[in-house]
Amino acid sequence: MHWPISLNPAGNHPLFPTKADGSRDILPDEEWNFVKTWASMQDLLASGKVRSIGVSNFSTWHFEKLLAAPTTTVTPAVNQVEMHPYNPQFKLVKYCQGKGIHMTAYSPLGSTDAPLQQEPIIQEIATKTGKSAAQVLISWGVWRGTSVVPKSVTPARVISNFEDFVLSDEDGNKINEISKTTQRRLVTPNWGVKVFYDDDDL
Ligand SMILES: NC(=O)c1ccc[n+]([C@@H]2O[C@H](COP(=O)([O-])OP(=O)(O)OC[C@H]3O[C@@H](n4cnc5c(N)ncnc54)[C@H](OP(=O)(O)O)[C@@H]3O)[C@@H](O)[C@H]2O)c1
Repeated sequence: MHWPISLNPAGNHPLFPTKADGSRDILPDEEWNFVKTWASMQDLLASGKVRSIGVSNFSTWHFEKLLAAPTTTVTPAVNQVEMHPYNPQFKLVKYCQGKGIHMTAYSPLGSTDAPLQQEPIIQEIATKTGKSAAQVLISWGVWRGTSVVPKSVTPARVISNFEDFVLSDEDGNKINEISKTTQRRLVTPNWGVKVFYDDDDL
């Protein structure tokens, strides 16, 4: 489930329906919600067409609601969220890992043009280890037990992005400190409703 949001299937576009004022056309909670979507997804498991089902952009708030629902019989296998040193999501990672929900980091380099590469601590560790800044960022995600999905249209980068390495605890912890001075989320679509609940508590 890409977002804990229900887009209007009868809207003006099959993927991105909008209202007259330009905001996203989403259904009110009473009509449809992510708990109902999840119940439908559970049926896919029984069909044998999928082996695992997961979510994306869920906060602890969504999980509490989902897992408490009487219709929920399956815990999500994975939660894919924006994670990089500016948005490490410590609280959410701890919560999900405690429930056996695997965490995947999207936009791990900071999205378009990979701005996290310029961060001095990342540069310093890259120089010290002889790795690229992107490899340091990817290896930090692996060091903390998450999967990491960087994107590149550049073949050489796709290859080098697979060459992660074992980051030392000292360097991992140093990178953990970055969000104390810079906390920033990069992917914030305007859904017209609150989606991210854990941002005040890294
Ligand atoms: N679940 C969700 O809601 C959600 C939301 C956003 C993104 N995602 C997914 O997450 C994945 C990654 O996210 P993203 O594309 O936003 O961010 P990203 O992977 O953090 O950054 C992509 C940018 O980094 C550059 N880059 C990649 N490898 C590099 C390297 N080794 N050295 C220098 N620059 C490098 C890319 O340039 P080039 O391509 O020009 O090489 C591109 O500009 C995508 O597959 C996307 O579909 C999921």
